[in-house]
Parts: sequence; structure tokens; C-alpha cells
Amino acid sequence: MSAFSSVDQAADPDRLIRSLDHFASGLAAMKHYMAVTHALRRPTRPVLDLGCGAGHDLEILAAVGVACVGVDASRVMLGTAAERVGGSLVQATGELLPFADHAFGGCRIERVLMHVADPAVVVAEVVRCVEPGGLLTIFEPDWSSLTVNGSPVPTRWVSLARHPAVGGAVGELLREVGSSVVDRVEERSWWSAADFEQLTDIESSLDRAVANGHASGDEVRQWLEDVRRAAAAGDFTAEIAKVLWVATAPR
Ligand SMILES: C[S@@+](CC[C@H](N)C(=O)[O-])C[C@H]1O[C@@H](n2cnc3c(N)ncnc32)[C@H](O)[C@@H]1O
Repeated sequence: MSAFSSVDQAADPDRLIRSLDHFASGLAAMKHYMAVTHALRRPTRPVLDLGCGAGHDLEILAAVGVACVGVDASRVMLGTAAERVGGSLVQATGELLPFADHAFGGCRIERVLMHVADPAVVVAEVVRCVEPGGLLTIFEPDWSSLTVNGSPVPTRWVSLARHPAVGGAVGELLREVGSSVVDRVEERSWWSAADFEQLTDIESSLDRAVANGHASGDEVRQWLEDVRRAAAAGDFTAEIAKVLWVATAPR
């Protein structure tokens, strides 16, 4: 399980916040796209940012004039969001939101469903809290699409997320609760070798894959050696699909 599933119990929550800060700039285009998509609907009720983390998107929503409420399971994340952005922040899990039916004009979720126990439960709970026809934007990676130097990498080697491929499955979850998917936008992120190693915590992830019987020690050692040799020669690409689902809550 990734430390993002349980930030307050993590050995070093500040490292997780630094990681969100580091990757926020590469994700800026999609973050703004989501915020503007909400703003253009001129919601008359606040928009929920579920799993708001350190508040990067609350700041962007506010900048485009969208009233918003940040919800996160982590006290530490909310403390950081409070210092940086302030506003309306609530500690809760997406599985059990302390809000009335239809309390929100819309909801955004980013890189959260991959970490929760059951994404279907969270999507259903969010839909309950959003007004009929309200906008839902959900942006999650699909780790099963990862390639390094053009070759697929087994997901179990590199991702600790509970639902690493949820990015490809959100449309189905939305349809199951009666939402209408109106758009699917795919971004292919490129990572530098250093970012790839940081994001995947590659050495411990590969050790874990070997310990769990998903690969042999020789296999992963050779693979990592090849990847690092190529990176040192300036020949490294890591590419992964991240999928934004745009939908409306059931009417
Ligand atoms: C990878 S971070 C993404 C933060 C933010 N959405 C962003 O894009 O910067 C995942 C966030 O989801 C939160 N989280 C994990 N499980 C959750 C749950 N069941 N309910 C609500 N938040 C959760 C974590 O505490 C963390 O802040």
C-alpha cells in the first residue's frame, strides 16, 4: 500500500507533501483545465476537492473564482492546506462524507481513487453529495500503461497503489452510479530518470516485488542496471497515461 493511503501514519509525511509540490508543476496544465471546466459551469454551490492534499487545487479553484471545500483523510495534509490556502477544509474520508445529499455544485478528484480502499464506494458517495447535473472531474493515472524506454514495465514492480490501473476504470464506475461521462482526456506524462526513481521509490519497490514473488532478483537487478546505464547515456524515457474523466451527476 502506498503511504498516500494513510498519510498520517507515514514515516515521513513531509516527504509526501514535498513530492506533491515537486510534481504539481508538471501537472499544472491538467489542474488548470479541471478548474476552468468547473468555473465555466458557474456553479451556485461550492465545488468539493476530494483528497485535496496540501491545497494546490484549492488555490487554483479560488483563483478562477470557484468557491470550494477541501476534504482529506489526513490531518497533516489539511494542516498544510490551512497554512497555505485556508478556506473551508474538512477532515473526512471519501467513503463517508459528512455532507447532505446534493450539497455541492460539483467535485474534482485527482490521484486519490488509486489510494482508497474501494473506489466504487467513494465515487457513489461523491455522486450522492453533488447536485443533479453537477460536474465531476476525476483524474487518475493508469499504471498499467507505463513504459520505460519504450517497453512495458509490470505494474507490480513499480506501483504500491491499491488500484494502480483505476485511471482506465473510472468511466465504468461513473456509469454504474448513473453519471453521464461527457469527456475522456488522456495525458501522457513524461518523467525524467530522477523523477521516475523518486516516484516509484524504485529500489525498495523492486525489492518488494522480489519478496512478493512477482519477479526474480536477477531479473530486476538486470533491468535496473540497463535502465540506469541508458539514463547515464542520456537515453531515458518513462511514459504513463493519466486519464481525466469529465461527467455529470445523475439528474
Ligand atoms: C497523491 S495525494 C493527491 C493530493 C491532491 N489531490 C493533489 O492532486 O495534489 C492523495 C491524497 O488523498 C488523500 N486520501 C487518501 N485516501 C483517502 C480517502 N479514503 N479519503 C479522502 N482522502 C484520502 C491523501 O491523504 C492525500 O492527501
